[in-house]
Amino acid sequence: MRKFILAVSTALAVGLVTPTTATASTPAEDVKAFQQYFYDKFPNVAKDDFKDGVYALNKDFREQWENTEEFPPYEDNIAKGEEMFNTPFANGKTYADCLLNGGTGTRHLYPYFDKDSGKLKTLEGEINACRKANGEKPLKYKKGAMPTLTAYIADTSRGNVINIKVSNDDRDLAAYEMGKRQFYMKRGQLNLSCADCHVTNSGGYARSDLLSPALGNLSHFPVYRHKWSALGTPHRRFGGCNKNIRAKPFKAQSDEYKSLEYFLMVMANGVEANGPSSRK
Ligand code: HEC
Repeated sequence: MRKFILAVSTALAVGLVTPTTATASTPAEDVKAFQQYFYDKFPNVAKDDFKDGVYALNKDFREQWENTEEFPPYEDNIAKGEEMFNTPFANGKTYADCLLNGGTGTRHLYPYFDKDSGKLKTLEGEINACRKANGEKPLKYKKGAMPTLTAYIADTSRGNVINIKVSNDDRDLAAYEMGKRQFYMKRGQLNLSCADCHVTNSGGYARSDLLSPALGNLSHFPVYRHKWSALGTPHRRFGGCNKNIRAKPFKAQSDEYKSLEYFLMVMANGVEANGPSSRK
């Protein structure tokens, strides 16, 4: 890790401009600058490939990954998730009765700002709200049944383009700004921000790990990680990245992680949703 920290400080010393740090700008301006930064940084990566994370950057890794994806480790999860989705609750109602647009083909629309409550709605949060409204116990937010169900929903959303726009509602803008701060804030004993690794140093290495560009970082969730031998939600991944720099993770579905997810998905406007996927 020591070597890596040195690499980070060198990059910062050169004085990179937005979007490597948070600045006062509108969400639409942020999206443009954010995406252009990665297009300029990786001129040989096709715009459509940012949905594939590190596999957009390295041919050998991509080949290995494509081999894995021929018999995807999450295939059974999709089938189980479909069964869960179609099994009625004890009261006879289903997820289709309360989730956005009947539940399927919607992964690319979350999180979204809900005017009535003034809050961000994540897919996982809405699944549990739906369960509670129908007298069912909530699911755990990071692993197990939750990403199994979202794997099915993601699979039915493949090919749709991420399309999440921040409105002029002050509460929406505040949620967006909170996510942006979360992304650029330095934290933990190693004093690193998400942007230090996934913007400034994307394409570089942290130990033996190639660092993915933040653009498209969530397009393919939930993710089956070989390290976990299981699926995980975006907030499970955020927690892992926080722990790696010895920062205390926030709770899954905390306002901090919901807003961070919102920021990353807004930045990915126009990127294709292609979950679930597998990672190291
Ligand atoms: C010390 C560097 C470091 C920091 C800081 C860091 N990450 Fe990561 N992150 C990694 C590494 C290494 C991986 C695995 C390789 C990859 O996909 O980038 C990863 C993976 C991810 C992934 C999965 C990417 C994929 O394609 O599936 C997401 C999402 C992510 N990080 C988000 C974040 C967020 C949000 C933060 C800030 C809270 C953060 N990371 C902070 C190093 C870091």
